[in-house]
Amino acid sequence: MSADEQKKKAARAAADMVRAGMVVGLGTGSTATHLIKILGDEVRNGLTIRAIPTSEETRKLAIAEGIELIEPDEQTIIDIAIDGTDEVDGRLNLIKGGGGALLREKIIAGSALKMVIIADASKKVAQLGAFPLPVEVDRFCWPLTVSRIREVCEEQNLKNIDIALRQQEGGGVFRSDGGNYIADLCCGRIGDAIALHKGLIDIPGVIETGLFIDIADQVILASADGLEILGE
Ligand code: A5P
Repeated sequence: MSADEQKKKAARAAADMVRAGMVVGLGTGSTATHLIKILGDEVRNGLTIRAIPTSEETRKLAIAEGIELIEPDEQTIIDIAIDGTDEVDGRLNLIKGGGGALLREKIIAGSALKMVIIADASKKVAQLGAFPLPVEVDRFCWPLTVSRIREVCEEQNLKNIDIALRQQEGGGVFRSDGGNYIADLCCGRIGDAIALHKGLIDIPGVIETGLFIDIADQVILASADGLEILGE
């Protein structure tokens, strides 16, 4: 079974958790794309849901699939957010943002009653950090912000790590949907993800980090052997 088939299987299991009338946070990336297409099929078969997309890419796909999108107000309750991940450890902590949508993903995940992660089994790791950690930064004087990021990393025993300003395919600096830059931190191993997140988020100029700590309620990992469910 290919990784893509595994992603689809995880997406199918999460789609089964979506009930009529729910407000659904729609994630971003290849695994979330499977979910959106499955939900699109269900909507065409009569399922009534409203959704909030976590990126412009997801917005376009959801519209193409006929899924009703809403702009939330202060009373909006997001029943469930479903999204992919780049890494997940045994405590359900994540690295996300490989697709550059980490800020919007974290806003929606943090407001949802339930946050479900869907992934192929390769995303499960013993320790976070092999996947470069995305950190969204304001464009103003960004090299100064990167310098402060490096200081925080060194305090966390992440010495002399590579920090790359993300580039877009075809050339030019990548910009998030919010117009910001993303610095990818090649940490290797993150010893204390909570302390690293706290240190980074305190830097003026850092908008958000791709460390999703204590946000996911459930992780659905698919492999050729079946589904592994982490969390409630
Ligand atoms: C998007 O910014 C990311 O957080 C994705 O959710 C993550 O990169 C997983 O992507 P795939 O589902 O494509 O592996």
